[in-house]
Amino acid sequence: MAILVTGGAGFIGSHTCVQLLNAGYEVIVLDNLSNASEKSLDRVRELTGKNLKFYKGDILDRDILNKVFETEDISSVIHFAGLKSVGESVKKPLEYYDNNITGTLTLVDVMRQHNVKNIIFSSSATVYGDPAEIPITEKCPKGQCTNPYGWTKSMLEQILTDIQHADNEWNVVLLRYFNPIGAHPSGRMGENPNGIPNNLMPYITQVAVGKLKELSIFGDDYDTTDGTGVRDYIHVMDLADGHVKALSKLAKGTGLSIYNLGTGTGYSVLDIVHNFERATGIKIPYKVAPRRAGDIAVCYSNADKAKKELGWEANYGILEMCRDSWNWQKSNPEGY
Ligand code: WQD
Repeated sequence: MAILVTGGAGFIGSHTCVQLLNAGYEVIVLDNLSNASEKSLDRVRELTGKNLKFYKGDILDRDILNKVFETEDISSVIHFAGLKSVGESVKKPLEYYDNNITGTLTLVDVMRQHNVKNIIFSSSATVYGDPAEIPITEKCPKGQCTNPYGWTKSMLEQILTDIQHADNEWNVVLLRYFNPIGAHPSGRMGENPNGIPNNLMPYITQVAVGKLKELSIFGDDYDTTDGTGVRDYIHVMDLADGHVKALSKLAKGTGLSIYNLGTGTGYSVLDIVHNFERATGIKIPYKVAPRRAGDIAVCYSNADKAKKELGWEANYGILEMCRDSWNWQKSNPEGY
């Protein structure tokens, strides 16, 4: 029995494939490579000494999905595939709703046709909007998302919830990621964004490697200790391990489960800059710029439920996250 990983060539997907293979699972990857390189899968094979099968294709393509399910013996799906740029989603809502929503509907319909009803969905803390409580537990009400990307995550959570409620043969785990950073400690895999990075850590590492001149800090007038935005950064290897633990839960027949995958600690933008400088010895020049539309002041998790029910907790600290992000970038200045 194999695990189908959609979007498995991407940042979180490829790191999850490493941990799945290391845990003894058979892994099949489907990825359209629109925002990923197939080289990431070569690195997965290199680091694990194991093979995985790759299908190049899109979750919107019913034919390729049927081919995968007819050819492979799939027990569960970990669904990462989707467009994920907050800024781009504001400019291209139709593309985001079509790709992320229609694509997922196509995927789960084909799953149902092949009687595969176990899915782990890559969701996001963004579904909490401007959170009603801090630290955020899974009981915190979902909020008003500030962009179409976030709405696709929130809507897909509802869609998968309704599917499971209508047919209890479905087992659904919704994993709400906080802010994934870091890289495989080997430096052979990492975050590989197209173009100018939207997210903080890849922007910092590109400043550190000399590809970008200086960091713009989006606002220093938030109601936080130093005025800059606070987030719950989590090492991508911890995140990958959370998926392995969630698979075990899925196999026991979980019905519908929702988990925050975070560290429970919030760090400001300046905290990240200072910890990156401590971890690497590299000075990061920055300027304060206006707030970014859609940003919230503070977002960090209470991850007790995942610890209690999955036996999972984050182990890597902020200095290791900074160290590993830099180790990847300095060894791969142009990415894959
Ligand atoms: C973090 C902090 C910025 C860049 C989003 C999505 C989330 C997930 C991760 C996809 C904020 C500040 C950033 C920069 C800055 N999505 N910042 N200068 O916005 O918390 O989360 O990305 O994988 O679902 O919502 O992450 O890294 O963009 O920002 O000052 O050049 O860094 O204002 O306070 P965010 P981020």
